[in-house]
Amino acid sequence: MTGDPKDKVVILGIETSCDETSAAVLVNGTDLLSHVISSQIATHQKYGGVVPEIASREHSLHLQPVVQQALDEAKVGFTDLSAIAVTYGPGLVGSLLVGVSGAKAMAYAAGIPLIGINHLEGHIYANFLHHQDLEFPFLALLVSGGHTHLILFKAHGQYQVLGHTRDDAAGEALDKVARTLGLGYPGGPQIQKVALEGDEQAFKFPRAMLEPTSLDFSFSGMKSAVLNTLNTARMRGETLSVPDLAASFQQSVVDVLVRKTLMAIQQTGVKTLLLAGGVAANRLLRETLDYELSQRSIRLVYPPPIFCTDNGAMIAIAGYYHYLAGDFAPWTLNAVPGLNLT
Ligand code: KG4
Ligand code: ZN
Repeated sequence: MTGDPKDKVVILGIETSCDETSAAVLVNGTDLLSHVISSQIATHQKYGGVVPEIASREHSLHLQPVVQQALDEAKVGFTDLSAIAVTYGPGLVGSLLVGVSGAKAMAYAAGIPLIGINHLEGHIYANFLHHQDLEFPFLALLVSGGHTHLILFKAHGQYQVLGHTRDDAAGEALDKVARTLGLGYPGGPQIQKVALEGDEQAFKFPRAMLEPTSLDFSFSGMKSAVLNTLNTARMRGETLSVPDLAASFQQSVVDVLVRKTLMAIQQTGVKTLLLAGGVAANRLLRETLDYELSQRSIRLVYPPPIFCTDNGAMIAIAGYYHYLAGDFAPWTLNAVPGLNLT
């Protein structure tokens, strides 16, 4: 690395919470020098979902080479780093442990601080990679395979969960419906693709809105409605159009996400919405929110698709803000699979 590295904040971010082993080197919260993702999707695809034991074994195999590649591409060594940031939850316990223990060992050996990052916070902070000008307060819609949250951010590290799913996450529901339709894993991108050929009005699936002012979500009943429709047709010997089912279900999920988000914007009066998590890569969701929010002069921000799904760069950027706040983890940092945003 050129120049005196000590006047720069250089963060190595490590992510291993689920099925991606990823590492990134970020300087001063703005310059992403490297970003390496080793995806296990092909390994898990034949099982129709992530197999936890295989995931942790794959992380063990790939963590060190992925970190080394990230350092090499960034042209930095461990001595150039200011700190190592690592996801410590939520996620699969075995997968998290590989990242946490690896990061601990590397940081301790290099004599630099360790920073523990909540994976959910990482997803939201992915937005700061391309928008350093974001002003508080803002609302975040976090939609991933494991979580669906509406969160009000008042300042760095100061947030309030306004609503969350009471059962399935949006991505989980998309994945389960996709599996039933024979579309494979991960389901969200497959549903999006197949839906392009379908009619979103073909099936009238329910939109679970819960109590009138509630910002909570419920996708389990909506998912079951698709499964029931399919089973009924099968019993009658009828064949339904998979593209129509995919398009109609995707529309129902997006409708609920957008309606609840608009309610949250109205209730809080915020002027900015951040989209985050794997489902934030969904084109229909982005386009619908783009349209609805531009009508209301609300700013909408979302990361490029590669920074929506799990990645090390989002952990590095979240780590950068923890670094500025002097918020470091003890060497006893452990994996917390059920970690939430509180
Ligand atoms: O954030 P993420 O990579 O992992 C978790 O933290 O869960 O999110 C994965 C989820 C999966 O459910 C996947 O189907 C969904 O994000 N997803 C999508 C799209 N890309 C990924 N859902 C809808 N449309 C997409 N384009
Ligand atoms: Zn994630």
